Amino acid sequence: MTQHFIVIGNPIAHSKSPAIHEQFARQVGADISYQRQYCPADDASFIAVVEAFFCGGGVGANVTVPFKQTAYDCCAARGGLSDHAKTAGAVNTLLINKALVAKGASIAEAIYGDNTDGQGLVNHIASLGWPLADARVALIGAGGAARGVILPLVEAGIDTLTIANRTVSKATDLVKELSDTSPVIAAKKIESCATSELSGAFDIVINATSIGLSGDTLPLDNNLNCQYAYDMMYGRALPFLQHFAARDAQVSEGYGMLIGQAALSFERWTGHTIDVAKATESLSQKS
Ligand code: ATR
Repeated sequence: MTQHFIVIGNPIAHSKSPAIHEQFARQVGADISYQRQYCPADDASFIAVVEAFFCGGGVGANVTVPFKQTAYDCCAARGGLSDHAKTAGAVNTLLINKALVAKGASIAEAIYGDNTDGQGLVNHIASLGWPLADARVALIGAGGAARGVILPLVEAGIDTLTIANRTVSKATDLVKELSDTSPVIAAKKIESCATSELSGAFDIVINATSIGLSGDTLPLDNNLNCQYAYDMMYGRALPFLQHFAARDAQVSEGYGMLIGQAALSFERWTGHTIDVAKATESLSQKS
């Protein structure tokens, strides 16, 4: 029987998720339908779309801009949240909490939220062969994208984490808030500083700011060095990566993170394991 999936967003027409999930389904021989679902940008419409989808037999949904926080609030009040969704403060993957349904909850009451974005980044970095265990990591940015990767990075066994942001107080507040939410993060010493003051040697520097959308460049210090530089953006020229490539670092854009987070959602929904490197190769041959 065909299993139904959607990605909900606004705008949504350019989402690559259907092509990615169809590639996964081909790889494991699963019978799925994965559609883009436009939704008006208000909470009530989002809830109506999600309820109609799951009550109609849908198996899983991805959530993208601007609904990740709305999805978080929806699941917090219904079927619950994974630890990754709680620390990210955002949900990108919806499913039904079957344990709650078994206890008598309705489908609408059992809508559960996970967040696979951060683990998708960690899995992609691992697949590149960049060691995360004991790594000294600098993360630039303190918005939603940065927030979502902090717990998965700490869980991957990094040594130190420095969070740099244009507005330093946002980085400091983020560290405090996450330490209050997660004992794993509280046990890790996390420094924060201004992006322009980020200096010295790191193993990995990750750009989690949205600067790539604006065409501006980050004020990077001449004494900032790393072996590996990762930009969570993809599909455009990224001055951040050019800066470190010119200093002999290995660099990567974030397309593999997109595939990685999708693979984790697919695995969560269907129980199939995806060979991400193989799927990435097939997808890049098509684009
Ligand atoms: P996202 O969900 O993509 O993380 P966000 O929550 O709006 O988006 O966060 C954007 C991040 O990019 C922030 O860390 C922001 O820095 P500030 O907190 O100082 O605003 C950073 N950012 C965006 N444009 C930037 C720019 N031109 N220079 C430096 N940092 C920038």
